[in-house]
Amino acid sequence: MQISSKFQKKIINAFGSDGVSWLDSLESTIQTYFEKWELTSEGPVENLSYNYVIKVTDSAGAPFILKLGVPNFDTRNEMKTLQIYNGDGCAKLLKYDLEDGVMLLERLVPGRMLSTVSDEIVVIENYTKVWKAIRRPLLDGVSTPSLTHWFEGLTNYRNSGDSQIALKHVQAAEEFFQQVMDSSEGTELLHGDLHHENILYSEENGWMAIDPKGVAGDPYFDVVSFLVNQLDSKVDPKSILKLRVDTICEQLGLDRQRLLKASIALGTLYACWGIEDQDPDWDKTYQCVKWFIEFLE
Ligand SMILES: Nc1ncnc2c1ncn2[C@@H]1O[C@H](COP(=O)(O)OP(=O)(O)O)[C@@H](O)[C@H]1O
Ligand SMILES: [Mg+2]
Repeated sequence: MQISSKFQKKIINAFGSDGVSWLDSLESTIQTYFEKWELTSEGPVENLSYNYVIKVTDSAGAPFILKLGVPNFDTRNEMKTLQIYNGDGCAKLLKYDLEDGVMLLERLVPGRMLSTVSDEIVVIENYTKVWKAIRRPLLDGVSTPSLTHWFEGLTNYRNSGDSQIALKHVQAAEEFFQQVMDSSEGTELLHGDLHHENILYSEENGWMAIDPKGVAGDPYFDVVSFLVNQLDSKVDPKSILKLRVDTICEQLGLDRQRLLKASIALGTLYACWGIEDQDPDWDKTYQCVKWFIEFLE
């Protein structure tokens, strides 16, 4: 098995020495789980990011996905969230190992990503169906990370000394986050990263989510990752963004002003994270924030 140097670099950049030791044993971990769960490889998926995701079949030839992540809090939280969804609206977790960061998932077939659909209205309709299907209350006795904790990222950005994001926008993000929280009808379980590449088509179940982060917050925030994604290739990204905001509000019965405030808040946080992670695309998210501000005025 050849683990590409591009993938290795990405992992080491993101996880440092934990990433190095995870990569060192990755091939043998994969081998262990192939044997333990009687799996045959069909090779890794094409769009690897921070996890090693392999198409596999079991001993009966049925298709599954083997996903391996650096074993940490986020990976364990993903498994916990998948268990709560239990295959309803989101690909099902069938087997897992918390310590090794390994998951065996239902494979969505053909597994086409929502980003492959070109008609924006069709994309939005499919998106809103999945958004509705994965609404869940927080479970008693299950601790879930919270958006309030995520938003400490804005304070970290202020303290970093970087000034590429204007202070007035960081302040607006903080204020709007508070306003959305203060007017919230309740905190629930959010997917936390519901964008085009995390929504796949299954012949059996239609469009389904994958890859949940699992975070407690107001459901309006679960729209933002989708809004700011896949705008690069559009001739007029600003009008597509506006179309998304307006159509989603209509289809999900959301308050437009409130969604824009949630979007300014979380969009700014994404841009701050992008700068921190040296993501060259951080400014595209920042541009969306500026458009959200214009739409709000
Ligand atoms: N259950 C699944 N069924 C089919 N394809 C999947 C499944 N899970 C992941 N994939 C494919 O692998 C890609 C990366 O998986 P994902 O879980 O999103 O990893 P990451 O956390 O690194 O983003 C997805 O965009 C999709 O193409
Ligand atoms: Mg993903």
